[in-house]
Amino acid sequence: MWGGRFGSGPDPIMEDINASIDFDRQLYRQDIAASKAHAAMLAKKGIIAAQDAKRIAHGLDTILSEIESGKFAFKRALEDIHMNVESRLAELIGPAAGRLHTARSRNDQVATDFRLWLRDAIDEIDGALAAFQRALARKALDHAATVMPGLTHLQPAQPVTFGHHLLAYVEMAARDRGRFANARARLNECPLGSGALAGTSFPIDRAMTAKALGFARPTANSLDAVADRDFVLETLSACAITAVHLSRLAEEIVIWSSPLTGLIRLSDKFTTGSSMMPQKRNPDAAELVRAKTGRVVGALTGLFVVIKALPLAYQKDLQEDKEGAIDAIGALALSLTAMTGMVGDMEPDAARMAAAAAEGYSTATDLADWLVRTLKLPFREAHHLTGRIVAKAAEAGVALDKLSLKTMQAIEPRITKSVFDALSVANSVKSRKVYGGTAPSNVRRQAQRWLKRLGKKTGKETAKKP
Ligand code: ARG
Repeated sequence: MWGGRFGSGPDPIMEDINASIDFDRQLYRQDIAASKAHAAMLAKKGIIAAQDAKRIAHGLDTILSEIESGKFAFKRALEDIHMNVESRLAELIGPAAGRLHTARSRNDQVATDFRLWLRDAIDEIDGALAAFQRALARKALDHAATVMPGLTHLQPAQPVTFGHHLLAYVEMAARDRGRFANARARLNECPLGSGALAGTSFPIDRAMTAKALGFARPTANSLDAVADRDFVLETLSACAITAVHLSRLAEEIVIWSSPLTGLIRLSDKFTTGSSMMPQKRNPDAAELVRAKTGRVVGALTGLFVVIKALPLAYQKDLQEDKEGAIDAIGALALSLTAMTGMVGDMEPDAARMAAAAAEGYSTATDLADWLVRTLKLPFREAHHLTGRIVAKAAEAGVALDKLSLKTMQAIEPRITKSVFDALSVANSVKSRKVYGGTAPSNVRRQAQRWLKRLGKKTGKETAKKP
């Protein structure tokens, strides 16, 4: 494809280090679509003959079906997807194939292909995130009033509802989707026509190819278009944040499903046994989601280092943008599907959750608030008195609501028995009706709002990436 000025062939190690076909073959659909758009435009502008464009399009369609039916012979000697396709095109249609690369370089070609590939990947991830949100919101609605221990510093802090906790992840996923949408909007410009780096002297119509491929517009600077990969960095950043979010829920599932806490149960569908210890039910899927975060963050970090200090314009270093990104997107898509499955599968042990929610004097803040509300004490003073009451309870080895009124009155004589209403876990969550708070009525409303907003399954969600 480029051997005109070369005397001998490359050293075998050159093929090993140079070839990208082992991973960029995954861009075949995008590569063929971009070539078809380019050929059609060349014909429309009279740069190649209409007859040749027709042959090219037909040949490309044949190649597409060859690849999809597994009949295509990928060759490492042909380096990458672009040259594999073009070489096969020459076999299929003869000399007309050689006209396809008019006014084009692999540099603008690969930048176009990868933008198209990432755009599809983003759409797939967005659908998977929506399905994840839907599973969370459904479970949240079922458990709008199921109380669980709310933790800070992993210590019992205040009771919350399980539904409220799950909806926290719906919010995170919504922001994740926003980041993907932003990345998608910015990457949606077409590099075709940038050539190797300087543009082209042929009278091409860049708006036409951009439009044919669903891009919002052509890129405005040819050097930037072939040299930059911030569209990959940005997408990977969104992936990394999403993966980190998933890892937090994965970790919580591991903690909650451990018999040490016993807050939830995963069914046989999402647990595995041990080959030695017959009693085990291990949350492997959650652990692997937690771990796959490493790949995703690693791909982002790796690409930052590749691009750092890279002079303009295209450098072969940029070929290293794809392997990590493709792997990271795959890992994230898989993690999302596994998490959606686990969220639907997990069932809280409501009695255990309620008992755990009451442990650790978790309604102490409610007692302090009662003192503020009923006795009009300043909060600081109420906090101090409550601390003394908690100390008494700890001394007696009982929960706050098991302390006698007398003991409390010894610390603050104006306390009446209505204080006990404030000490129940159910009343504690019920009272937190502030917008964004954990009250079951809020959680129910928010879960319903999300379910309505998320609507029915979209086509996108079920679409499979090649
Ligand atoms: N496989 C290459 C890549 O992924 C395609 C571009 C090659 N360009 C070049 N000038 N050798 O970056």
